This record gives sequence, C-alpha cells and structure tokens, in this order.
Amino acid sequence: MPEELISAKGQIKRMPIGIKGLDEHAEGGVPLGSSVLVTGAAGTMKSSVCFNAIYTEASKGNNVLYITLEQSYVSLLNQMINMGFNFDKIDVTIIGSDPNIIRQKIKQVNASKKGHLILSDLASLRATIKGKGATENWWDTIAKIVKTMKKETNITAVVLDSLNSLYVLSDFKEPRNKIFHIYNFFKQLDVTTFFVSEMPKDASKYSEYEIEPFLADAVVVIQLVERNRKVTREINVAKMRATKVSVDVFTLEYSKTGFQALYGGKMPLV
Ligand SMILES: Nc1ncnc2c1ncn2[C@@H]1O[C@H](COP(=O)(O)OP(=O)(O)O)[C@@H](O)[C@H]1O
Ligand SMILES: [Mg+2]
Repeated sequence: MPEELISAKGQIKRMPIGIKGLDEHAEGGVPLGSSVLVTGAAGTMKSSVCFNAIYTEASKGNNVLYITLEQSYVSLLNQMINMGFNFDKIDVTIIGSDPNIIRQKIKQVNASKKGHLILSDLASLRATIKGKGATENWWDTIAKIVKTMKKETNITAVVLDSLNSLYVLSDFKEPRNKIFHIYNFFKQLDVTTFFVSEMPKDASKYSEYEIEPFLADAVVVIQLVERNRKVTREINVAKMRATKVSVDVFTLEYSKTGFQALYGGKMPLV
C-alpha cells in the first residue's frame, strides 16, 4: 500500500519503539511504515532494542519478522531469554529460507491467536554456505521471505539485522539506488522496518555508505560513553520525519521493567 496523505495534525498512526521515556518524546513512536535506522557500535544493544520493539508489537497480537544475518537464532534467543523477555506472551516461530518449511510454519502462525515473532535465521544458512559463489541473491531471498510473510501472515513490523551483513553478502554497486530501493520495498508493503547499522567506535559515521541516514525516515543512535571510568549507553533520535521529536541525548537503561531512556543525562540507576 502506498503512503497516504493525512488531512490533519495528529492523524499519523504510530508504532512505539518500546523505550519508556523516549516514545513520550516522539509523539508516541515512529509513524507506521517508517524505515528506522538503528545505529551504534558493537555491544550498544542495537539488536536488543530492535527485538524489544517488535516483541512489544507482537505482544499486542500482531505478527512480526526478525531477519538475522549476523547471529544464529539460538544466540539471539539466548540473549533475549537472559534479558528476561517473557515468551509466554507471544509465540516464536523459527524459519530459514526453505519455502517448504515456510509454508508449514505459516499454517502454524495462522492457527494460533497469539502474536508471532517469526525469526528468519539466515545467519545459520550463511554459515553453511562456503565461498562467495552461492551467496549472490541474498537480497532477493530476503525480499521473497518478507513478501510471503506479509501476504500470508500480515506482518506489521520487521527487523533487518544488519545492513552491514547484507552489504557483505550482496552486490552493492550503486548503494544509493539499492538502499532507496530496499527502504521503499518495505514501505510499499506497509511494514515498519528497523535496520540495524554498525557505527565505527570513533563514531565517525552512522553507517557504511553514509547515505543510509539521509534516506531513512528515522535515525536512532546509541553510543557508549565513558564517564568517571564508568561506561553508559546513551541514546538519541537524530531524526524522525513527520514527528515533533526531542533530539536530546538520554541515558539508555535496561532493567526488569524493560528499556528506559533517562532524561537530561541523569546518571543511571544502579
Ligand atoms: N540483562 C541485561 N541487562 C543489560 N545488558 C545486557 C543484559 N544482557 C546482555 N546485556 C548486554 O547487551 C549487549 C549485547 O546486546 P546486543 O543487542 O547484542 O548489542 P549489539 O546488537 O549492539 O551488538 C552485551 O554487551 C551485554 O553486556
Ligand atoms: Mg547485534
């Protein structure tokens, strides 16, 4: 479905990012259908923040899709179980790229009333394929999975973890065109999409080609900041189209009650 023109302020429907204190400063979340770039160095909890966002969406009864090119599903789920996510509230369905398995799993998804978090583990598949020769069409594989899942299970949100892995696996001769095409692909399907992007440790750029933030509808930046020999995570929304958003830097905390953004550079709760 193409973008729709609104007729009055406040009509835009939104999906919360799922971080207390941050959504409140962004009119409640990202406009539905947005392309959201989540960027940060290693260990800044990009994957966890994205997982949390679509987990929250699934816990409302929606189907969502997490595509992992980086971590196997076991590694990803272990991290989330360790963080205390409650997997009674939602169903988790693991798929790879095999169309037969996908067909079976779609039946399971549609047979239950709970929201499903569909986890497409392309990282494990990637590990079994040696050499460059067999990897030419990763984007086509991803696009096919996303299209099928939209059509058959009506997914509302997707995480692509990560763009950098996709670059390694696919031919990106004209990155500006290709990235525009990728963002647009998800927008046309009317899904809100979180793209994980690696930032170098010196924070010299937000993404590989430096154009990803310009083309994205929203950009969330997470950084590790050292103060008095203590490292904290800081989060800010560098950009969110069609939204009155605070561009302040918040301290990002994770506790039993979930993610929280503390205002005004407050020291984290210990
Ligand atoms: N329960 C927890 N509370 C806070 N941080 C955690 C918890 N469990 C794991 N972490 C931290 O999360 C980090 C990994 O998060 P992840 O989302 O995989 O980061 P990224 O995707 O940015 O590399 C690790 O550095 C780990 O220390
Ligand atoms: Mg990660």
